[in-house]
Amino acid sequence: MHRPRSVREADVGGKRVLVRADLNVPLEKGRVADDTRIRASLPTLQLLLDREAEGVNVCSHLGRPKGEDPQFSMSPVAVRLRELLPDDRIRVLENTRFNPGETKNDPAYARELAADNELFVEDAFGSVHRAHASTVGVAGLLPAYAGLLLERELAELGKLLGDVEHPFVLISGGAKVEDKLGVLQNLGGKADTVVVGGKMAEQIREHNPLSFDVVLPTDVVAASEFAEDAQTQVTPYDALPDGWLGLDIGPETRELFAQHIAEARTIFWNGPMGVFEWPPFAEGTRAVADAVAHSSAYSVVGGADSARALTELGLEDEVSWVSTGGGAALELLEGKELPGVAVIPDE
Ligand code: 3PG
Ligand code: MG
Repeated sequence: MHRPRSVREADVGGKRVLVRADLNVPLEKGRVADDTRIRASLPTLQLLLDREAEGVNVCSHLGRPKGEDPQFSMSPVAVRLRELLPDDRIRVLENTRFNPGETKNDPAYARELAADNELFVEDAFGSVHRAHASTVGVAGLLPAYAGLLLERELAELGKLLGDVEHPFVLISGGAKVEDKLGVLQNLGGKADTVVVGGKMAEQIREHNPLSFDVVLPTDVVAASEFAEDAQTQVTPYDALPDGWLGLDIGPETRELFAQHIAEARTIFWNGPMGVFEWPPFAEGTRAVADAVAHSSAYSVVGGADSARALTELGLEDEVSWVSTGGGAALELLEGKELPGVAVIPDE
């Protein structure tokens, strides 16, 4: 795998540095609702400050605005970042996606971002699968280096692509099989056990597009309708009352999945086991989070939903690595080249 050169090797003293961070965080009522990605960007910013950078201009996208839209302003992010790292040398630029040139990797917008800066640090792991002006374009205009978060993500996720300790257990969930198929195909072959929950388990049961068998739920929490307050009952996976929906894995399945997880020496988990935002259907995802956290295996968790389940249980420090990337982590593990990484020179 391509190892981009590190910001630790850069001569930043007295320089103005442009940092692309992934500060695409959820907002609620004009405030940052989850600052995980902001905190994850701090080590690189702190390093630049410690090494006497003259100025640190941090840019990121936020959401998917269509042009300028105050609802997607970076202001709440700037406020939170300032609370966490008060230093007048740090400036947060406005949402890169306010400029239509961002997603087109327009050279004019890249030049605008690069102007007045002398160095570029790519630290937005969650966005390096996008070939945009702020992730790729600027790297061609300024000497480019990888930030500490990007480096760490590549190193931790990269371990899963190399020689892993066995048993290797891959746990996959979520709504759509298409989203996870690439990872299952690339890593599933070397996994000893592939465990699948969530809606995608139903799709795989109907038609398994993989060349190996997977462990599927034996029972489900069935709901009378797709609603948080639906009537529920635990049934075997193939005995749901007419019109009912399986919205979580059942207790027997939780036990089965936990047993597989307990035997693992390496774990990758991505995707919830059910509609875990609704408490009646959260137990399956909680059980998996719990089993992964209590394992002493090398464990990596990817995707916003799985990360949130861990955080809600206070278990985020009990796993080896929680990736800040959703799509980027999946693409890396699919074996794809990440444009925002490829563009940074080798170490
Ligand atoms: C993410 O949240 O996955 C990243 O910030 C990328 O966002 P995007 O899918 O809108 O490019
Ligand atoms: Mg652990």
